Amino acid sequence: MPDATTTMHLDKGLDNTVIGESTKSFIDGQQGVLEYVGIDIDDLARHSTFEEVVFLLWNDRLPTSEELAAFESELRAEYGLSDYMLQALAAIPADASPMHVVRTMVSTLALEDPDCNDQSYESERRKAVRALAKTPAIIAGFDRIRRGLEVVEERSDLNMASNFLWMLNGEMPGEASARAIDVCLILHADHGINASTFAAMVTIATQSDMYSSLTSAIGTLRGPLHGGANERVMHMLQSIGGIDEVEPFVMDCLTNKKKIMGFGHRVYKALDPRAKYLKTFAERIAEETGNRDLFVLSTTIQDVMDREVGAKGIHPNVDFYSATTYFSLGLAIDLFTPVFAMSRNAGWAAHTLEQHQDNRLIRPRCQYTGEHGASYVPIDQR
Ligand code: SDX
Repeated sequence: MPDATTTMHLDKGLDNTVIGESTKSFIDGQQGVLEYVGIDIDDLARHSTFEEVVFLLWNDRLPTSEELAAFESELRAEYGLSDYMLQALAAIPADASPMHVVRTMVSTLALEDPDCNDQSYESERRKAVRALAKTPAIIAGFDRIRRGLEVVEERSDLNMASNFLWMLNGEMPGEASARAIDVCLILHADHGINASTFAAMVTIATQSDMYSSLTSAIGTLRGPLHGGANERVMHMLQSIGGIDEVEPFVMDCLTNKKKIMGFGHRVYKALDPRAKYLKTFAERIAEETGNRDLFVLSTTIQDVMDREVGAKGIHPNVDFYSATTYFSLGLAIDLFTPVFAMSRNAGWAAHTLEQHQDNRLIRPRCQYTGEHGASYVPIDQR
């Protein structure tokens, strides 16, 4: 029986399918280039701030100084969590996975949002501001509570990176650490139609809402083939006893077709420009802390992978050196992916708002390979 899909192409994984147009990120996988609204990621990492990058992604242009100040004020006014949210956070089991906590608590924001049933562009944007501004408090608050510590109140005189570290550690962060987190937030903010962004778009395309889109995205990011890789990179580094074990470890993985976490990419076949930047970060932090072991271990793994599979286009991705950077900054390993989500709220919201403005329900087909004309057999005859 001819199936509707006989006239269409099958593209499992959507490697070769363009689902629409976007002005947010440009990625050249062959050259290893990433631009946000046309500006190279390296320029943004060197000169911009996370808040300025969010404005860029949401408005398709850089802000004036007055616009940036106003946007920062809008975000800072939303840093805090309500008593309801704090009570919900305190009720979560201490051994819960922080990515499940982030997904659950971002979803919980919808329950008390006055705009919840307003699906205008302005309302969806306000929801995005709240989720972006409050995710740091969700992550830091849960980590404090699970450690048996008091929740630290937000500081609206600080930018998002510094306020996050303040709420997490209960002390003012050093300038280098605050800037390191700020740059990591810039580097992770957007990346075209990756799996979690696609999930957000599919959700808003049904005329659902921003919180539902972000919840879909957070759940998708968690997977080890996607944002969850950074935590697995750290566990991998810790499992390798020393430099001498790198070669046998990598060769065993490659021989047994086991994926090395933090390497490879669906789009990049050259080095991920974010990995290039994060590698310099990891090295600088290693120098400053005097603890080079993790960095040397990482570069040794990269050397072996470059020799064995570099020609196949398998290089470090954003998750490989972000692991060492976050660990050196004192973050708990299971907070690595939540910090990725804290940043990617910006890109998820940018694409959700873009889809909202020029929407069409996203509904692909699949090649039906089952039977036709099967009979219904009564249960007492099966
Ligand atoms: C992110 O899409 C995005 O933009 C995502 C992201 C973003 O900012 O949103 O960039 C963030 O998710 C980065 C990726 C993090 N994931 C990991 O580090 C997990 C390890 N990586 C792999 O699972 C893999 O590279 C993927 C999932 C990232 C991409 O896989 P593809 O495109 O489906 O490629 P594939 O699995 O078909 O592999 C092609 C070949 C295979 O060898 P052959 O069968 O052809 O001989 O490359 C090999 C694979 O075995 N390969 C690897 C490898 N990745 C691919 N071999 C060893 N180790 C790896 N990591």
